[in-house]
Amino acid sequence: MKDQLEALRLQIQQDVKAAKTLEDLDQIDVKYLGRKGELTAMLKGLANVSAEERPVLGQLANQVKQTGLGLIAARRDELNREKISVIAETERVDVTEPGIRPPEGHLHVMTQTIREITGIFEKIGFYRTRYPEVDWDWYAFEALNMPPEHPARDDWETFFMDAPVSDKKKQGKMVLTPHTSNAQIHELERHEFPIRMLNIAKCYRRQVDATHTPMFHQFEGLYVDKDVNITHLRGVLDYFAKEFFGPGRVSRIRPHHFRFTEPSFEVDFSCGVCNATGKVNGQKCKVCKRGWLELGGAGMVHPNVLKACGVDPKKYSGFAFGWGIERLAMMKEGTQVDDIRILYQNDVRFLKQF
Ligand code: PHE
Repeated sequence: MKDQLEALRLQIQQDVKAAKTLEDLDQIDVKYLGRKGELTAMLKGLANVSAEERPVLGQLANQVKQTGLGLIAARRDELNREKISVIAETERVDVTEPGIRPPEGHLHVMTQTIREITGIFEKIGFYRTRYPEVDWDWYAFEALNMPPEHPARDDWETFFMDAPVSDKKKQGKMVLTPHTSNAQIHELERHEFPIRMLNIAKCYRRQVDATHTPMFHQFEGLYVDKDVNITHLRGVLDYFAKEFFGPGRVSRIRPHHFRFTEPSFEVDFSCGVCNATGKVNGQKCKVCKRGWLELGGAGMVHPNVLKACGVDPKKYSGFAFGWGIERLAMMKEGTQVDDIRILYQNDVRFLKQF
């Protein structure tokens, strides 16, 4: 029996050495040392040996068991360490490796333009305002010197709201703001001077074609204080031309008519391609055709507008301008956009160019 025990010890030793996986070790454990294992079976045989031999053999059997357990534990440790080092090798993460940039969007070209315009006017003390884009007739038309039924209103192809008429005197119907000039009235009603308003908002008109979308944006400037005159307007226009388009650019004004300004003007900016000559190498300039890019309206605030807001036209004067942002963005060189509607089709191939 002693020999058998020694043989078992050797056997365990060899098997453990040969074990390749933790599962192998478990099997060895069960096979030799488990409850139904070989050692247990041998211990049962102790009952048949003599009384003197029994303690010696018992002790030896116990030693074999301890040795076996020790060997298995040691090998288990070893295999565990190997396993970890394999993982460390194959699943290693190089934390210094540069990451992969996730795809990143950017601001819509209109938002970019709005921010740029805002920045330009903030530098000269204008503050951005926002007024309702659904407003009363009074703000959109009447206080702007366009009485009800006046034919000038036809120029603003207005969406009227299917909503009750205001019960306040004079406010009238609700409209989707057809221009940003409603903000002039809201600002003037506050009676806080100087007013240096920059109102940027959505406008709505019943028009769709290559140069019109039913929803578009305007930015409206209003400067009202004591002794404001046309030279101030000219200065602001030229300042804007240089800031937005570039150092060599200038503005010009042409006589026009609006009910809410007097005198009224149309504002043009010199074309950067032909330098306001209308010609490139003897040929007609393809960008502007006549040397100037037309942007929109401006003028000195009409005394009737001031009066409608309870402001004394003898004390205060001012200028206002209102321009389309889509148009402005399209006038910038390199923005070769010939159909304004593409701005709102959300085609990423188009949008990502800006
Ligand atoms: N509101 C006018 C328009 O939509 C533009 C304008 C604004 C003209 C301010 C003069 C002064 O066409």
